[in-house]
Parts: sequence; structure tokens; C-alpha cells
Amino acid sequence: MKSGLSKALVTGGAGFIGSHLVDTLVKEGCDVVVLDDLSAGSLSNLDHVKDKITFYKGDIQDQNILMKASENCDVIFHMAALVSVTKTVDNPVDSAFINDIGTLQVLESARQSKVKRVVLSSSSAVYGDDPFLPKHENMPPKPMSPYAVQKLTGELYARIYYDLYGLETVCLRYFNVYGPRQDPSSPYSGVISIFITRAVSKKPPVIYGDGKQYRDFVFVKDVVKANLLAAIADGAAGQIFNIGTGKNVSINSLWDMTCLLSGLNIKPEYAPPRSGDILESVASIEQAKSALGFEPDYLFEKGLEITFKWYKDSRK
Ligand code: UD1
Repeated sequence: MKSGLSKALVTGGAGFIGSHLVDTLVKEGCDVVVLDDLSAGSLSNLDHVKDKITFYKGDIQDQNILMKASENCDVIFHMAALVSVTKTVDNPVDSAFINDIGTLQVLESARQSKVKRVVLSSSSAVYGDDPFLPKHENMPPKPMSPYAVQKLTGELYARIYYDLYGLETVCLRYFNVYGPRQDPSSPYSGVISIFITRAVSKKPPVIYGDGKQYRDFVFVKDVVKANLLAAIADGAAGQIFNIGTGKNVSINSLWDMTCLLSGLNIKPEYAPPRSGDILESVASIEQAKSALGFEPDYLFEKGLEITFKWYKDSRK
């Protein structure tokens, strides 16, 4: 697809998801500005496009740098955030400055710079442990961590900016995103990055609980596609969309598939369930399909294979 965007700002553009979005925008010939404080993202994610983008190292709480970075942009993709749920639990106030005040500053700069639309990255974390499946956008949110409260607050501010100021905002609630460049280094990193890293080093993974719990894993390129559609779709402004696949994969079968890809036959180790672990999560993507025309392109097997190859190659 071609979005036809002429200039875009990606906050958090040096991060896992942001850098993939930057790649696609650059390929489309869009003039791309990245604002990232490099606290979680890395310049190595942008090395191959560094001559084709404008990069600002800075904080989304800094209005001056935001105003500069958003000048003449058609759209801002707001991806910068403190994404570690555990860090927001440990630092509820500091994380609120980044995730709430930062988001507010992004919206305010967009309003002042007369940017047409802002696409905000939200999270399925806002649903908490509501057992209703699949999760759909009209369910009452049930945030269970400062992170989830902060994402929900961002959505509410986005709505207010649309209603009060006419700034077109679209919020995307990502389910479990995976793909190349995801950092596997913390025990709370995404399970796919952890399992593949274990397989590449021929070690068993730890499965918390019985492994029958499942998630809706969405490949990072499909999340990029959803962002581009959200940036251009007529009638999407002021709305919230789930971004997943609508399908689920259990943690046991994730390890089986990883073993198949790596030619290994390693039995996982089992440990007690993580406290607060949600058993089942799967998205209804009907609204994204009808309003954005979103349809995931990557079957799970395909996305996993690409991701596996990337971790294997980057280990060399
Ligand atoms: C995601 C967030 C998490 C947040 C939660 C609630 C990510 C990477 N994690 O967790 O921070 O608290 O939503 O909104 O986005 N697992 C294993 N072994 C491992 C790692 C994980 O068995 O080594 C299991 C977990 O217990 C879980 C499943 O794999 O059941 C998925 O884990 P994870 O990738 O952390 O995602 P969420 O649990 O959905």
C-alpha cells in the first residue's frame, strides 16, 4: 500500500516498532523526522536509513524540540513511551511524566503546528483481566497497572483533542507485537524474543504455568500497516482500534513451532505461573477491518520464521 504521506514525525522512531515504521515511510519516499531520547531505542535500528531521515535526540516532554520536529508534518506517529509495565509499577510518578505528560505535549505540539492527524500507540493492557473474549473496543477498560492507566489516559486526551480542537487522533491498541529488533534482554521482554533467543543458543525456555495460556501475536510489519492505514483512513478520527490478528497461539505451541524452525527437540522447563498473568487474550479486529481496511498480511508461521532468521543472523 502507498500512504501518500509527504512528511511524518515518528516519536520513538529508534525503537522496535518505530524503526520498522520509519523503514516503510522512507521506502514510500516520505520525508521522515524521528524524535527519540534513546532510552530504550537504539541508533543501530536506524543505521541503514540514517542519511535519509532527520533525527532529533530528545524527550517528548520538551515542547521546543517537539515543535521543531513536527514542523510541516501531515501526521505524527506517537510511539515514544516507557513500555515496561514493571518499570511503571516501580516508578508510577516518573513514568506518568513520560507516558502522560509526554503524550499531552505531543498532542499540544500537533495542535500548535497544525498537524492534521496523530496516530497514538496504545495497548491491549487497557483491558486488564476481563475474561470476555475476544476483546473488543467497546468493553469497559480495566487497567491493572500504571502503564495501562497511562495508555488509557493518552486515549482520553486524544479524544478530547479531537472533540475540542478538531485535531484528528486515532488510537491503536496493540496486542502482543513481535518481530526483528525486539529486545530480548529482560525477563519481561516479549515471550517470542525470549524463546527464539533460547532456541538460538540451544537452551530450554521457562514456561510459566501449564503453557496453555494464549496470546494474539501480531507481526511488527502488520502493526506498521495498521499505522499507515490509521494515518489516512477517512472517518477514523476520534476512534480506537484493536490491532492484532484475531487468532491465538498458546505458549506451548509457540515453543513447539520455535523448535521446528530451529531443528531442535528441547523440552521446556515449567515454573509456577507469573502473578497476575492473563490466561487468554485475543483481539476482535472487526472495527479495524471495517473502518481502516486493516487485514494482517503475515500468518503466524511466516512472521515467526522471519523473526527467527533475524535473531539467528544477528547473533553471527
Ligand atoms: C504483556 C506485556 C506485559 C504486561 C501484560 C499485561 C509485553 C512483552 N508484555 O504481557 O508487560 O504486564 O501484557 O498487559 O508486551 N512467558 C513464559 N516464559 C517466558 C516469558 C513469558 O512462559 O520466558 C509467558 C507469560 O507468562 C505469558 C506469555 O508467555 O503467559 C506471554 O508473555 P509476554 O510476552 O510477557 O506477554 P503478556 O503476558 O501478554
